[in-house]
Amino acid sequence: MATQPPLIEARLVAMQLEARDIVSFVLAPANLHADAPLPDFTPGSHIDVHLGNGQTRSYSLSNVDASANRYRLTVQRDPNSRGGSAWLHETLRVGEVVKIGAPRNNFVLDDSAPHSVFIAGGIGITPFMPMMARLNRLGRAWHLHYCVRTPERAAFGDEIEMLAAAGEGRVSHHYDEVPGGAMLDLRATIAALPARAHVYCCGPSGMLQAFRAAAEAIEPARVHFEYFSSNVEAAADGGFVVRLARSGQEFRVETGQTILGALREHGIEADSSCEEGVCGACETRVISGVPDHRDSILGARERAANKTMMICCSGCKSDCLVLDL
Ligand code: FES
Repeated sequence: MATQPPLIEARLVAMQLEARDIVSFVLAPANLHADAPLPDFTPGSHIDVHLGNGQTRSYSLSNVDASANRYRLTVQRDPNSRGGSAWLHETLRVGEVVKIGAPRNNFVLDDSAPHSVFIAGGIGITPFMPMMARLNRLGRAWHLHYCVRTPERAAFGDEIEMLAAAGEGRVSHHYDEVPGGAMLDLRATIAALPARAHVYCCGPSGMLQAFRAAAEAIEPARVHFEYFSSNVEAAADGGFVVRLARSGQEFRVETGQTILGALREHGIEADSSCEEGVCGACETRVISGVPDHRDSILGARERAANKTMMICCSGCKSDCLVLDL
């Protein structure tokens, strides 16, 4: 498992309504004069926010300026919220301090590509804001397809237009719930990619599935995606043994349990955040055994290699799993 740096205390210094049900939260060091600056981050990064209700949730950084000693999280209030977006929208207020993790990046921009195409579904726009700004600084071309149901649900309208005007950017809006509107044709978009262009998608899981199917036609190295939620069931068949190589502990994962849940039951702390296989916080090195991968992060090659797994949602196809814990 990746070693986690110590948590950072950050103060909410601003909130801004960006669109219907979407608010940006700007975090700064808790004590601007005494605390170290916030760690730098690369476009596509996210941070874990330790919510006051005991939960941890991951949010992409939507800053266009990565060196401003601020983190901007842009969060959509989810009517089915398990506590994350509801807590941020309704409880956290300017001036209050939250604990956050250092930025991690599972959605890295390949800024050497001559052209980049971004496909954002709803709040999936957030990681693309720093990516577009970065490509502007490098003078590289990009094209954003921004898919939302209606215009009032589109965040960052002016900011995106300014980014496009400041560089080699182009923006296409796709509204599927307005008269005459239509969903983006993913297959046609991918078929029309400029030569050597890289394509990125972040949005709801249904959109990601369609994107991945459409993108099978091009080289995997040019295809990048990030889920912000999963519709894949966690493996909960149990019936296998987990051995922890470092501590020597061994226990059985029972039916209905995840590996993370079984660890907790045995009093073993493990890093986690989303608990649905989309953030990477619980990634753990596999020493032996065959994981049953259920995450949305590892690619086909990484899955086949079985060198790491997400223990919050993935199970085991063999009788025993030895983990680097
Ligand atoms: S906790 Fe997010 S992938 Fe496991």
